[in-house]
Amino acid sequence: MWYHFRFSLDPGEENLIKAFILAGGKGAHLRPLALHIPKPIVPLANIPFLFFQIEQIKKAGITEIILGLSYQPRKITDIFGDGINYGVTMRYTYEDFPRGTAGALKAAENLIDDMTLVLNGDVLTDTDLREVIQFHQGQKADATIVTKRVMNPSGYGLVEAGPDGRVVRFVEKPPEDEVTGDTINAGIYVLERSVLDCVSREGPQSFEREVFPSMLAAGARIYSYTTRSYWQDIGSPQKYLEATFGIISGRMKLPSYPLKSCPPNRWEKRQVQIDAFSILDGGCIIKPGVVIENSVLGENCRIEEGVLIKDSVIWSGTRIRQNARIEQSIIGRQCHIGEGVRLRAGSVLGDKTSVTDYSVL
Ligand code: GTP
Repeated sequence: MWYHFRFSLDPGEENLIKAFILAGGKGAHLRPLALHIPKPIVPLANIPFLFFQIEQIKKAGITEIILGLSYQPRKITDIFGDGINYGVTMRYTYEDFPRGTAGALKAAENLIDDMTLVLNGDVLTDTDLREVIQFHQGQKADATIVTKRVMNPSGYGLVEAGPDGRVVRFVEKPPEDEVTGDTINAGIYVLERSVLDCVSREGPQSFEREVFPSMLAAGARIYSYTTRSYWQDIGSPQKYLEATFGIISGRMKLPSYPLKSCPPNRWEKRQVQIDAFSILDGGCIIKPGVVIENSVLGENCRIEEGVLIKDSVIWSGTRIRQNARIEQSIIGRQCHIGEGVRLRAGSVLGDKTSVTDYSVL
């Protein structure tokens, strides 16, 4: 049942590998941020998230990308279109209902070839994907799962492998007291087409919970490639903030987004303090006495006198009135934050939220 094809990633040779990005989830854990904008395109450092993945995929020499869509698909296709502006060929599959991670690939079976690079559309990484594919081919694996060692693995799927990297056990999202290891499924796979034989056409099916464990039980060759590179998912507001800090700190490089028109920001340099780490999109008005540290501001924000913004992300079109203090918080699009408001660590406000003067959250 398990068979193998080999493709070359050498420059100059025809490259038949395509990438499939799972971009159809509801992103419930990222609410309220992913309510009106699907998780795969939430702005990270003011760039639609999937663009980071597209750049990483291109680095591996892959230019044909399929997005598996289900939730708010138009918002995603409106940005990426046929992919030409991004230097890739972009195609889409639409699920009539959310088919789960494995069901989504099955729905794309007419578009994929013999081997596919599959990514969860919510992981930020600079892992060398070409190396992952070469590892997969070297092991003659049916499936290779990129894994990552993390400090706190609870809430993730654990992958246990032998010294040669061959997977021996999966433990899916164990509670804290049942965590048996620190190596998690990083949501990036190289899969042979034969994997689709294990996915039914009916109902939703998940790689993590169903397909990989049943392949393992049937004796398939599943390997783990443990990445030492930067890796962070954006599945919750806290993780989204972590990913933002990964970029601000330079651990993850900020790619240059092709379609940005940047109207100038307006402030008096000597009257504001904006550190070199912070990223401000265009069209912002920053009034005297404002301090911005380690933060990201989307376009057309208006920040009034004496405001402090620290370790936070403010999406576009938001107005923050005088002397407000925002720390370790995320504020959605077109919010109004009143005078003297205090947003303490962990505050997350959805689009168009209005916070009354002097509130403390
Ligand atoms: P939560 O609702 O917060 O659990 O997030 P999610 O819906 O994104 O689910 P999860 O984080 O488990 O999904 C991992 C990746 O698979 C994400 O990139 C999702 O967009 C994607 N995904 C999850 N379910 C589906 C689905 O049914 N169809 C498609 N096409 N993608 C999916």
